[in-house]
Amino acid sequence: MLCCRCKSVLAKCGLRRPKVWKGDIHHFHFQSHLFTSLTMSSRVLKAESELRCEVSEGEVLGVKLVKGACELFGIELFLNKEYSFHDENIALFTWYGCTLEISGNCSHEKLYESDKTPMVSYVNTHMQLEAKRDVALANGDNGPRVLIVGPNDSCKSTTARILTAYAARLDRSPMYVDLDAPQGLVGFPGCIAAVPVEKTGINIDDGFSTFMPLLYYLGNTSITTSNIDLYKSLVTLLANKIQQRLDNDADSRASGIIMNTMGWSDNSGYEILLQCINHYVSVFSVDVVLVMGHDRLYSSLTSTFGSTGNVTVVNLPHSGGVVKRDADTRRRVVRNRIKEYFYGPYRLRSTITTLSPHRQDLRLSSLNMYRIGGFQLSEGMRLIGDSSSNDTALTKLVPSLDLKNSIAAVLHASSDEGEQETLLEHSNVAGFIWIAHIDLEQDTITTLLPCPGLLPNNISLVVGAMKYID
Ligand SMILES: Nc1ncnc2c1ncn2[C@@H]1O[C@H](COP(=O)(O)OP(=O)(O)OP(=O)(O)O)[C@@H](O)[C@H]1O
Ligand SMILES: [Mg+2]
Repeated sequence: MLCCRCKSVLAKCGLRRPKVWKGDIHHFHFQSHLFTSLTMSSRVLKAESELRCEVSEGEVLGVKLVKGACELFGIELFLNKEYSFHDENIALFTWYGCTLEISGNCSHEKLYESDKTPMVSYVNTHMQLEAKRDVALANGDNGPRVLIVGPNDSCKSTTARILTAYAARLDRSPMYVDLDAPQGLVGFPGCIAAVPVEKTGINIDDGFSTFMPLLYYLGNTSITTSNIDLYKSLVTLLANKIQQRLDNDADSRASGIIMNTMGWSDNSGYEILLQCINHYVSVFSVDVVLVMGHDRLYSSLTSTFGSTGNVTVVNLPHSGGVVKRDADTRRRVVRNRIKEYFYGPYRLRSTITTLSPHRQDLRLSSLNMYRIGGFQLSEGMRLIGDSSSNDTALTKLVPSLDLKNSIAAVLHASSDEGEQETLLEHSNVAGFIWIAHIDLEQDTITTLLPCPGLLPNNISLVVGAMKYID
């Protein structure tokens, strides 16, 4: 049951509401129910509650919505369609009650219902952004440019997805920007990405991945002092490209940008993130920063940006259901994302994969291969006084057996076009290949592509630090 204020918020946000309102009762009834057994069963969720589940590796949870309406992180489930979840943490939320059919082999204790959720805060935030979009559309201005920041596992990606999906459901076309290169949730691990999101393309199975992303490749799943300059230069490139697109599209411009960022796990990570936030705010002209429940960061950003008057900093709560992931789990998630890129996503009750990657043998000498940053000398090996760093430059790569199992990005710019590495450095990514085998004597390289078809001549490949072992 919803109070008057929330009823009006939902109505303004265009989210459907129950036919019967039974009274004004406040939110956050802080109780959750742990179920002790999971069978093939129906679950009735009451209004404003969610069914959470931590589906581990090797487990599957099947869900079918049979009555009412329900959403997964902002995206609505279709009625009577069976969904499967594998190796992920989910929360199926309903604003006004629903009935779900649950099946699968996931552990009983990890499936539970809770009515303690921050969704009301999120929908209020969404409403404020909608107001900004209306004003921007009327004046031909930029819509809200929202940066979501916080520590690891603080619901940043979830909140970014909810706010983007809510905007798209109201026929806006927001730009979703994923600056979290270590995870690369939208594009590929080691990448930053932007996708223009529209209502027609979002669904539970694919999220936002039905849209063609604009990708820039960092080639690494961590951001440290040694590659932060490269990272920042890619962020600037991405921001400029997005602005070029928005300049020609008034609707998208007014819909604004929602930016997901990476978290941090230690002090040096925190310092790096602060540098990145300053950079994001400046290159994307950010006007709203959402801090996911971290008082120190909130206070620091309020004192940095509060006085400028251009940036609003808001502290938002994160869900109690959010699941902490250790370094091993994160590595596994990244590995699974690479596997999905080549073999397709896992599907319910299917042990076979949905895509067939394509093996292709290429002549090694016909490829233009580059590595990011050139050969690195350790501090001890540098000449005294040499503080130069060419970490952002691409350098021609001499093929070696070390390349086996590397991931290479295929650039849009060909070496013909640019000849110079500088052009390639500014090029976005068309896709990725995996180097399965390399034979220097036979001059062959065996690659795995996500789809059949010959690679065009004169392509340029950029090899990062990432390896994948099949
Ligand atoms: N309400 C919820 N109930 C259960 N699980 C949730 C809920 N919200 C988020 N999660 C899960 O918690 C995990 C962490 O959430 P999320 O990815 O949004 O955090 P994050 O801050 O982006 O993390 P990271 O620092 O890794 O980028 C995810 O697996 C997500 O699916
Ligand atoms: Mg995230």
